[in-house]
Amino acid sequence: MPSAKKVRVAVIGCGVISELHLRCYAHNPAAEVVAVCDLIPERARRAAEERAPGARWTTKAAEIFAAPDVDAVSICTDHASHCRLACAALAAGKHVLCEKSLARTAADLKRMLAAAEAHPELVAAGVFQHRFEPLPRALRDLVAEGAFGRLLAATGSLWTLRDDRYFEKDAWRGTIRGEGGSVLINQSIHYFDLLIWIAGGADAARAFSANLGHEGVIETEDTVSVALRMRNGALGSFTATSAGVRQWKSSLSFQGTAGGVEMRDEKLFSLVLADKAAEKRVRARIDKALAAGAKLFPKGKDYYGPGHQAQIDDFVRAVKTGHRPYVTFADAAESDAMVFAAYASAARR
Ligand SMILES: NC(=O)c1ccc[n+]([C@@H]2O[C@H](COP(=O)([O-])OP(=O)(O)OC[C@H]3O[C@@H](n4cnc5c(N)ncnc54)[C@H](O)[C@@H]3O)[C@@H](O)[C@H]2O)c1
Repeated sequence: MPSAKKVRVAVIGCGVISELHLRCYAHNPAAEVVAVCDLIPERARRAAEERAPGARWTTKAAEIFAAPDVDAVSICTDHASHCRLACAALAAGKHVLCEKSLARTAADLKRMLAAAEAHPELVAAGVFQHRFEPLPRALRDLVAEGAFGRLLAATGSLWTLRDDRYFEKDAWRGTIRGEGGSVLINQSIHYFDLLIWIAGGADAARAFSANLGHEGVIETEDTVSVALRMRNGALGSFTATSAGVRQWKSSLSFQGTAGGVEMRDEKLFSLVLADKAAEKRVRARIDKALAAGAKLFPKGKDYYGPGHQAQIDDFVRAVKTGHRPYVTFADAAESDAMVFAAYASAARR
């Protein structure tokens, strides 16, 4: 599209995460929100009035897809509707940014990838905002360069609580049909994704899952433990629960033949290399990346992190320039595919 024109965006789904999308588009001078859409009229109206002044609102996504003044859509709906909305948007010639989890099932994921492939002229991007943050990016580069030697093991976890009220508030949460799972596909997917992404990709997953604290409230898992095989041969493990106490405690660690690194709550927690001179160089690299990142990233909303602005800026840039976005559907699908492999394995037990 001509570089002087603003990217005209519609946000579909006006619930919790849409507020952040609307705020990020408002901060991007190259984008303009022209419409918002929610099945619940009051939510759509309120989003337009309070967060996208000048934008029109509708309850029908089909109107958005048919509108000639919409270039791109942000899909901020429940997991089950992502596939239908993303495929319809691409078929209508709209660029798409779709929230995580890209899909609810492996079959939906396949359909979405096929739709993106059928429209190489359109941007199809998946939200994994933590991939934009400086520490995960630095660690991914360092692992790929062999700074920790040959990668041996990667471990991750998330401890949090989603109480019964959280699940009862919206009908899609905690259901197979609406969410596709629970703690793995929703709350902890960011850390599961970073674990796999920093390690260089995974090609197999086996899992156990359980509902230990929400019996009678949700039909999906609130606790999960996944074993992963990374593409480079390293082994991984990931455990998460949303039945703990009200907190948000994450950890990711990577161990190689030359040393290892650990992130806790998205910050560098430890770095140990056998070669102390190499450790100093790696620490300096990380410090430099963090210092550069501190300028780029104002503090984000709690545990969602500051990456949404960077991801939305990247999406708008990709639409304007025709360049590849940093996280394409295919990139995001790598971790989604491991989520579905883990669920399939847990179901076979
Ligand atoms: N990236 C992050 O950190 C992050 C954080 C929270 C949520 N999310 C993701 O964002 C998505 C939405 O989550 P939420 O917490 O905002 O959910 P929500 O339930 O608060 O909002 C979803 C909204 O979508 C609307 N909707 C559903 N189908 C629709 C359709 N066909 N057309 C128009 N509107 C429709 C619903 O009425 C609802 O208002 C999910 O995929 C979730 O996993 C991402």
